[in-house]
Amino acid sequence: MYAPEQSSHWQSATQVFLANPSAIGQPDMSRLRDVLRFHEHRYYVLHDPLVSDEEYDRLFKVLERLEQEAGEPIPADSPTQRVASSLTKSFPTVSHLVPMLSLENSYNGEDLTDWDRKVREGAQGLSIRYCVEPKFDGASISLLYENDLLVRAATRGDGVAGDDITPNVRQIRSVPLSAPFSAHHIQQIEIRGEVLLTKENFRKYNEQLAEQNLPPLANPRNAAAGSLRIKDPKEVKRRQLEAFLYHVSFHTISDASLKQIPALQSHSKSLELLWDLGFRSPNKEKMVFDSIEGVIAYCHEFESKRDDLPYEIDGMVIKVDELALQEKLGMTTHHPRWAIAYKFKARQATSTLLRVEYQVGRTGAITPVAKIEPVAIGGVSVGSISLHNEDFIREKDIQLGDRVLVERAGDVIPYIVKSLPEWRKGTEIPIQFPTNCPVCASPLEKESTEAVWRCNNDECPAQLVEKIIHFVSKDAMDIRSLGESNIRKFYDLGLLSTIPSIYHLNFDEIARLEGFGAKSVEKLKAAIEVSKSNPLHRLITALGIRFVGETTAKTLANQVQHLLDYQHYSLEQLQSLEDVGVKVAESIHQYFSNPRHIDMLHSLEAAGVSLTNVKKESVTKDNLHGQTFLFTGTLMRLKRSEAEALVEQFGGKLVSGVSSKLNYLVAGEEAGSKLEKAKKLNTVKIISEDEFLTLIQGSE
Ligand code: IVH
Repeated sequence: MYAPEQSSHWQSATQVFLANPSAIGQPDMSRLRDVLRFHEHRYYVLHDPLVSDEEYDRLFKVLERLEQEAGEPIPADSPTQRVASSLTKSFPTVSHLVPMLSLENSYNGEDLTDWDRKVREGAQGLSIRYCVEPKFDGASISLLYENDLLVRAATRGDGVAGDDITPNVRQIRSVPLSAPFSAHHIQQIEIRGEVLLTKENFRKYNEQLAEQNLPPLANPRNAAAGSLRIKDPKEVKRRQLEAFLYHVSFHTISDASLKQIPALQSHSKSLELLWDLGFRSPNKEKMVFDSIEGVIAYCHEFESKRDDLPYEIDGMVIKVDELALQEKLGMTTHHPRWAIAYKFKARQATSTLLRVEYQVGRTGAITPVAKIEPVAIGGVSVGSISLHNEDFIREKDIQLGDRVLVERAGDVIPYIVKSLPEWRKGTEIPIQFPTNCPVCASPLEKESTEAVWRCNNDECPAQLVEKIIHFVSKDAMDIRSLGESNIRKFYDLGLLSTIPSIYHLNFDEIARLEGFGAKSVEKLKAAIEVSKSNPLHRLITALGIRFVGETTAKTLANQVQHLLDYQHYSLEQLQSLEDVGVKVAESIHQYFSNPRHIDMLHSLEAAGVSLTNVKKESVTKDNLHGQTFLFTGTLMRLKRSEAEALVEQFGGKLVSGVSSKLNYLVAGEEAGSKLEKAKKLNTVKIISEDEFLTLIQGSE
């Protein structure tokens, strides 16, 4: 049975397996499972992987093959058994072993001091220690392990019984499918925790919804709760949920001679035990105090760090640490007396809707934007909020002049939770959606299956500008020197008109514009130049084909030698690609059937933009393959990260220091000791930034 503590042991086992995966045989199967469990724990719990995704996948595939060849029943906790094969038909109701209670709330130091007084009264003079940890803002779950195996996972439900969501929770990679509880004489254990989406995954998920013109979810909490009830576990897996486990609510002891389990004598110890067994418990975040003043200070400290955390928390939870004392204090029907939540400042406010403006997106979609009386939420002034589409306005019954409830959770985009019709004075006016494009005045159209109104004029200036902004954006062609305001300025001045015109910019004229020095023009030129040899998936993302985000773009890029090969792909061929469903296939097919798009791709290629799948070509081309590179000093044309990315893109390798293993030292301005060392070595070729760029171009 795998337990995370012997890290070096699993590292050396990994090396042995990776050295020759094809030689792994049946007898190694259970060891291989443990090696994979070790890497899952490193990746999903510690966020500190020791192998690349490819290496993990390689070993995973070997295990899949061995399990198939063995023809024996596969253990339910094998890493291969997270892959869900069928849809969940329903979620049966199951009773919790111990009711899932709520928590009493407190909002300031005074509330906590009052609570401390009550606890001390109940403790009748016994000394008290408080354990303080984050209050995770997600959806609560209850896990049941029997004889080391995860046998059931349930939602909170009404607190007494919840929905059995085991197939979905098995998709959460930080939840171990088995854990060595028996080593601690624990036979059955019920553990409580919170499932959540990181802010980053939530943002990505909302981006996907936006691609499909669906309104985004308000906050990660709603997203997590919704994700737990999806019928397709594969979709649950895609959402990349995380789980923090923070409370042992029940356990039985396997050894009759034992009265209690030492590792479960206090709450803080139980968090440590969970952590040691491979769970993501708040073990690192928790702090134990013997005075309420210490507790209050820690709560304030955490509140100030709230926005820097990768996930949402809405407060802290303070728990009496000693389990015996918890029992003595007991509970009400609603909450335990030994715990309390300290809630952070609210991130909601009310304001008045002043007017609605209509924005035209790159696909012509019209987005209504609410202009509200500016209101401060969590220290940020909010004055502008997307209303998504006409249906959203109707469903929320939002009218001009209405008071609205606004939420802004951390770095999440502000959101209108609801209108407050109770405040109406009778002067409010229903919102009239426009019938013509606010920019080019073309009549707006709406497909029967969609909620969005669109301007279908390909020449609509607003769309062109938005398309260019998307084309150069970070996840697309990443031309960082070409920001949104410059794009608008260049467009207004006639310097930019279409996407290919990016590659024919008149730099002399730009240099004459106010605010553009020779250095910034050079930077812009270099960034545009570098973008020409971007990997193909970036170009595909940049095209803004509907429903094609970064992941699908990667799939598409890997499939062909040249982007225009897609002109000859049938709908069926497209649908056979991973993650490409009917809707996505139709959109790709439509894109490559449009002669305007093909003309544009030809223009891009003529301007020097690569439409080829460089990775595939590099196998046959004599490029930087096998050569090692190191950069030193200040580069003038490229960012250090861009230059390093180019090395990898063209098959070269980066090294971290000057040694006999180094082939090329690229020396920028004010290069120092590395240059000196390289000169002494004699074996290192020292080249300038320009020579480096020539080297790459020569290898194209
Ligand atoms: S302890 C019997 N600890 O907050 C005590 N709850 O508002 C069980 N929550 O229902 C709860 N983080 O879903 C506890 N570190 C934490 C928590 C936490 C989030 C949730 C939990 C609870 C709700 C109460």
